[in-house]
Amino acid sequence: MVTLQENPLRVGLQQQRVPEPQILAIFGASGDLTQRKLVPALYKLRRERRLPPETTIVGVARRDWSHDYFREQMREGIEQFSDGIGSEELWQDFAQGLFYCSGDIDNPESYQKLKAFLSELDEKRSTRGNRVFYLSVSPKFFAEAIKQLGTAEMLADPLKTRLVIEKPFGRDLGSARTLNRVVQQVCKEEQVYRIDHYLGKETVQNLLVFRFANAIFEPLWNRQFVDHVQITVAETVGVEDRAGYYDTSGALRDMLQNHLMQLFCLTAMEPPNALDADSIRTEKVKVLQATRLADVQNLERSAVRGQYSAGWMKGKPVPGYREEPGVNPNSTTPTYVAMKFSIDSWRWQGVPFYLRTGKRLPKKVSEISIHFREVPYLIFQSAAQQVNANILAMRIQPNEGISLRFEVKMPGLNLRTRSVDMDFSYGSAFGIAASDAYDRLLLDCMMGDQTLFTRADEVEAAWQVVTPALSVWDAPTDPASIPQYEAGTWEPTEAEFLINQDGRRWRRL
Ligand code: BG6
Repeated sequence: MVTLQENPLRVGLQQQRVPEPQILAIFGASGDLTQRKLVPALYKLRRERRLPPETTIVGVARRDWSHDYFREQMREGIEQFSDGIGSEELWQDFAQGLFYCSGDIDNPESYQKLKAFLSELDEKRSTRGNRVFYLSVSPKFFAEAIKQLGTAEMLADPLKTRLVIEKPFGRDLGSARTLNRVVQQVCKEEQVYRIDHYLGKETVQNLLVFRFANAIFEPLWNRQFVDHVQITVAETVGVEDRAGYYDTSGALRDMLQNHLMQLFCLTAMEPPNALDADSIRTEKVKVLQATRLADVQNLERSAVRGQYSAGWMKGKPVPGYREEPGVNPNSTTPTYVAMKFSIDSWRWQGVPFYLRTGKRLPKKVSEISIHFREVPYLIFQSAAQQVNANILAMRIQPNEGISLRFEVKMPGLNLRTRSVDMDFSYGSAFGIAASDAYDRLLLDCMMGDQTLFTRADEVEAAWQVVTPALSVWDAPTDPASIPQYEAGTWEPTEAEFLINQDGRRWRRL
């Protein structure tokens, strides 16, 4: 077996995982993400001794909070959204590294004030000028914050400073390009970490291991053996209290262009030469560049949108999307989207990839299923009415695992067949719950490992694929023309048609 030469430049996803002392400045620190995800993840990393004690977190936001109030808020977040504080001593130690600095995103003075404060903290906490600037603000402020950081020369040192940008990165190809240009004027690509939290999920990373650490699947991973692929990310939640953001975004921008596209890339890409960031990201870009909506001339045959109407979830009535607080009653924003992609490559020519995602569906489940071709000739015709094709299903969440469906003979004197699943489950195999994606991504960023972050050309290529649908769907539309599905049901009938037209069915999950 040939192994990758030990070359520090080529080895990403490293094993030695303690970063240098540094300051993480979180913009938008009074928001949900900081309290629910980022600080609980940092606390967990600290508890697991993955972060050095000097690690310092500075919350930056408009509100006039004190350091102590910020600490209280973060403590509440850790108690409510993670395993809790654990030892009081650990919390006290962690809290000493938490600070708050109020400021306005568009005010140059705020950046000067922050800059001076960070230098002061460098002295106090021995963080040696190492900084991560994490933009967890509304996407409409990304460009302004980046420009201001540039003007204040806070990203000038490419070896010591990093920039993390939350999703969505742009709202279409044009705006993503513009934002990339702003980023490139201020810093080098090696400093930029565009977040897609799906890449931090354990099971998503396992896709790489599954495909490239097992010799038996790769020979089957192509048009000769695969009939089609389905990628589903279903959610039970509705728009929650995010109508302000969601109604201007919708399922295509919020989920498909990023999370589902990442799952798609990792499933369809060619084996990378190495496990470093650029080798993997280059393969992802290549597959995106070969991908197109299956039928752009007849859009409804390859892209369907939908909106949930009033229905029932877990025995309780729930309102339709347009009746949710904060949503425009005539909104045409999709809460569901399904797409059929074709990839023009030797490996995948003629193999459709069906992607779907939606809110208020019956189950929270994310899965990639590889549907293999049927047997070329059936010798059991008299014995079995139906022999099903094999399916390899990779469960991203919940009940993370992998199962392979195949046919067996049922016990008894008659020759009858049935499908059974050979199942691997993370929970029972390793006895631990999959860790939250943000632990992994924050640690990687602080370590300078970009493998699980999206590169500039990658994010643009992903927008490019969905542009034909966006350009039609963004045009003013009669609200009555948006397909509806009842909350708690799987999809609008139009999305059934999208796959049924090819003689296939969505997998029932
Ligand atoms: C976010 C979307 O990126 O992902 C949300 O903005 C969505 O709308 C969430 O609910 C889903 O993430 P997860 O990890 O719960 O599958």
